[in-house]
Amino acid sequence: MRFSDIRDIYEHVNDKQIAKWTVAIPHPYKTEDAEEFIRLTNKMIRQNKRRTFGIIYKETDSLVGIIDLFRINWTDRNGEIGYWIGRKFWNRGVATEAIHLILKYAFKELKLHRIYARIFEDNIASARALEKNGFKHEGLQRHAAKVRNRWRNFHLYAILSTEFRIHKR
Ligand SMILES: CC(C)(COP(=O)(O)OP(=O)(O)OC[C@H]1O[C@@H](n2cnc3c(N)ncnc32)[C@H](O)[C@@H]1OP(=O)(O)O)[C@@H](O)C(=O)NCCC(=O)NCCS
Repeated sequence: MRFSDIRDIYEHVNDKQIAKWTVAIPHPYKTEDAEEFIRLTNKMIRQNKRRTFGIIYKETDSLVGIIDLFRINWTDRNGEIGYWIGRKFWNRGVATEAIHLILKYAFKELKLHRIYARIFEDNIASARALEKNGFKHEGLQRHAAKVRNRWRNFHLYAILSTEFRIHKR
């Protein structure tokens, strides 16, 4: 991740609608939070535990979102994805395309076998973007995390490398 993206990250993430649907993003969000995020992420990338990508809008070369492959388990060849897109860019297929690209990278380059995502129960847009990419719903994880002092249920979605090959977009 580039430190030059701090401003864009701050502007998109300092939005209640982003914090509401994510586990670790505080609100209000500060530029220092973006700086810390980049520092920690880059450390984990160096440790081979994570791959994190900025989603760049080509016309302006500005960052409009982030997609992250984390909890990489090299023994069982699986990992979790998480993402956010700045609100101005919602419902244009950006997340759907970013998920497709990170799956391609995870399965073809990293040779992982299973990619999963855990989303809040009522996150319809995120569920839709996963389903459009061939993820299957595996169940509901009850009270899987306490987020902002409230127990939250997560839908668990996953896709296998074999399903990615046959899945048409
Ligand atoms: C979830 C999120 C990443 C989706 O990004 P996006 O770029 O808008 O997603 P896409 O445009 O690729 O796909 C969204 C789909 O959900 C649909 N959708 C959005 N809101 C919806 C709603 N309230 N009800 C039904 N469908 C909805 C869209 O119509 C679209 O489906 P379609 O292509 O079949 O029409 C974005 O809303 C976001 O960043 N939310 C906050 C953070 C978050 O939830 N991150 C995921 C946590 S893991």
